[in-house]
Amino acid sequence: MDIKQAITDRRSVKHFDSEHVMTDAEVNELMEHAILSPTAFNIQHWRFIQVKDKQKRQQIQDASWGQTQVTESSLLLIICADLNAWEKQPERYWRETPQQVQDFMLPSIERYYTNHHQGQRDECFRSSSLAAMNIMLMAKGMGYDSCPMDGFDFDKVAEIIKLPHDHIINMMITIGKKKTDARPRSGQLPLNEVFMTDSF
Ligand SMILES: Cc1cc2nc3c(=O)[nH]c(=O)nc-3n(C[C@H](O)[C@H](O)[C@H](O)COP(=O)(O)O)c2cc1C
Repeated sequence: MDIKQAITDRRSVKHFDSEHVMTDAEVNELMEHAILSPTAFNIQHWRFIQVKDKQKRQQIQDASWGQTQVTESSLLLIICADLNAWEKQPERYWRETPQQVQDFMLPSIERYYTNHHQGQRDECFRSSSLAAMNIMLMAKGMGYDSCPMDGFDFDKVAEIIKLPHDHIINMMITIGKKKTDARPRSGQLPLNEVFMTDSF
């Protein structure tokens, strides 16, 4: 599937075939592509939890106001990010570059993020959101549908997945074989209302 088709055909699907099993190889293929997404300073803040345990899935559905896609989907991903990824062995993010590049990038990372709590948090959301979009497009290309979700109790889900204290949850994504089509698009704004040239 070409990229234009994937973007046009991706819709938020709410009902999945609960019998369908996504193989580990498929999940790995999906996630190997997710981690090719861009991140500031290549920090790769994202951490992804796939929830396989049926009891946990049910608990998360209960914390999502009963949205059935949480248990019906073949794959439930919790898209998280590490607020302190910038200072956790940052040399890993540039290890394959020449020494002079590392000597420039590592102090730059430290300068940019030290005491910049808003920046640390914003970057987590930027990076993990870009990965989330790639996951949904990649899933489409693999013959799957998806739905991004933030309709859940973040504190409860954090408890269920044992979210570390210095991580955040961005969103969840459900992925599977669709049982019913998404409803027609609900009302896209016209391009000229959202796309401007040079200034607002
Ligand atoms: C951050 C985010 C959170 C969302 N949360 C939910 C959700 O909890 N449940 C749901 O059914 N759809 C959810 N959606 C899907 C939106 O309703 C959907 O993206 C929007 O209506 C546009 O439709 P489309 O994705 O099919 O183009 C969410 C979408 C985003 C981007």
